[in-house]
Amino acid sequence: MKIAILPGDGIGPEITKQAVNVLNALGERFEMEEAPVGGAGYAAHGHPLPEGTLKLAKEADAVLFGAVGDFKYDTLERALRPEQAILGLRKELGLFGNLRPAILYPELAGASTLKPEVVSGLDILIVRELTGDIYFGKPRGVRECPDGPFKGEREGFDTMRYAESEIRRIAHVAFQAARKRSKRVTSVDKANVLETFQFWRDIVTDVHKEYADVELDHMYVDNAAMQLVRAPKKFDVIVTGNMFGDILSDCAAMLTGSIGMLPSASLDANNKGLHEPSHGSAPDIAGKGIANPLATILSAAMMLRYSLGKAEQADRIESAVKTVLAQGLRTPDIYEPGTSKVGTEDMGAAVVAALR
Ligand code: IPM
Ligand code: MN
Repeated sequence: MKIAILPGDGIGPEITKQAVNVLNALGERFEMEEAPVGGAGYAAHGHPLPEGTLKLAKEADAVLFGAVGDFKYDTLERALRPEQAILGLRKELGLFGNLRPAILYPELAGASTLKPEVVSGLDILIVRELTGDIYFGKPRGVRECPDGPFKGEREGFDTMRYAESEIRRIAHVAFQAARKRSKRVTSVDKANVLETFQFWRDIVTDVHKEYADVELDHMYVDNAAMQLVRAPKKFDVIVTGNMFGDILSDCAAMLTGSIGMLPSASLDANNKGLHEPSHGSAPDIAGKGIANPLATILSAAMMLRYSLGKAEQADRIESAVKTVLAQGLRTPDIYEPGTSKVGTEDMGAAVVAALR
């Protein structure tokens, strides 16, 4: 099995290295090949998603992705900025189904900014559509405003749109995921204002007819944001569009106290996928050896489970992570008095040791 390793920028290389060590410790034979992406892709080949990197990602059975972005690339034109690498990979590989679990490990209950009783035992899954919506809709740009009270001024514009089949396939992902959990799906939309999301609601309702065993409710996105911090445990699976999912998944991540713990999977129709931590490249702490590698290690576990059909190995990694937390090991982002502060390398090495 071939895995493309795309470390990227900032803390990306440090955390990816630890995940590769963990994969190597499983006793399986994986072929791993590394390629530059994001700012590193631009620095090496003048483009955030170099041709060779895209080719490798397409050929591989799965992609393990670190993070992209760095202050020094913020002034580049949009098409050359590091973020374009991840958007390009999602689109080019057809990775429309984004799974973002938000799980609160009992050992980390004190790390959340919310009261322990509100978040303890939290285990929700956000299913975010990843290749449509206003992120990719055309036309878009800056132009002379053609009409209305601002006619003649410059205006920026983007297009929100969803095709029926795009909504159907992500709804199936959500209902199927719910079947393996507590069988409840909340579809989040803005049907009270947006045509796109009234259509979304109608189509999700129609797909639901095939899943009589799963409960479906609908919620407006503003209310969902409020409910996520008021009573997050009421949710099980949340399915939503690309932009609402972007926003709500950051919110859900922070309920757990540490975005440094959360993995994600971005899957195509055949479950081939790209697996990356939910956090970004944190350039401010890059190279200091203090970044938390657990989200990337857990992303490798999601890769094994979803893309490579190796659920048992995924379980092994997830229980090794629980072991190191139980041992009291903490990177600075999840540190609390009474635990032992460790760096990136030591945390990775402890997971490898726990696997053995
Ligand atoms: C994410 C990120 C990306 C997104 C950016 C980096 C393009 O915020 O994966 O959530 O908006 O999807
Ligand atoms: Mn985001």
